[in-house]
Amino acid sequence: MLKKRMEDELNKQINAEYWSAYFYLSMSAYCAGVGLAGAANWMRVQYREEIAHALKFFDYVIERGGKVELKPISEVPNEWNGIIDVFEETLKHEQIVTSLINNLMDVAIEEKDHAAKSFLQWYVDEQVEEEANVKTIIDQLQMVDGKGNGLFMIDKDLGLRVFVDSTLTVN
Ligand code: FEO
Repeated sequence: MLKKRMEDELNKQINAEYWSAYFYLSMSAYCAGVGLAGAANWMRVQYREEIAHALKFFDYVIERGGKVELKPISEVPNEWNGIIDVFEETLKHEQIVTSLINNLMDVAIEEKDHAAKSFLQWYVDEQVEEEANVKTIIDQLQMVDGKGNGLFMIDKDLGLRVFVDSTLTVN
């Protein structure tokens, strides 16, 4: 059985993951609006990843006999200052998510909840990958100054991303 403090923190994280999903869906709309179909696809895949992250928490709270409480999702931004800004904001956001996951891990440690620690390790590892992927894209975009033929080629690459439910695999 989950302790109340752990349950509350996990419920907050479910909300944070849905907020992330909404954030990336908004970025997908922005990218589509500025003619970057590949980046729009990448963000839409990212949206689906965040939904999968939320559902993994959702299922875990239930599995541990806890109570899921879904809270309202706050408004997300819908305007950015070009494609480099979009991915820089993505990296900043993922760094915030990493700190949220680390805080959750701290709570699990403080509450001596070994099962939650084991569960959360998946997210700790996932965040390393999330940040590294975005950093690579930012580096590429900066190389071409976020424009011209270079951007056209990068956008083509971003269009190749397909959703794979990483929550079903072990890191
Ligand atoms: Fe759910 Fe992008 O971390």
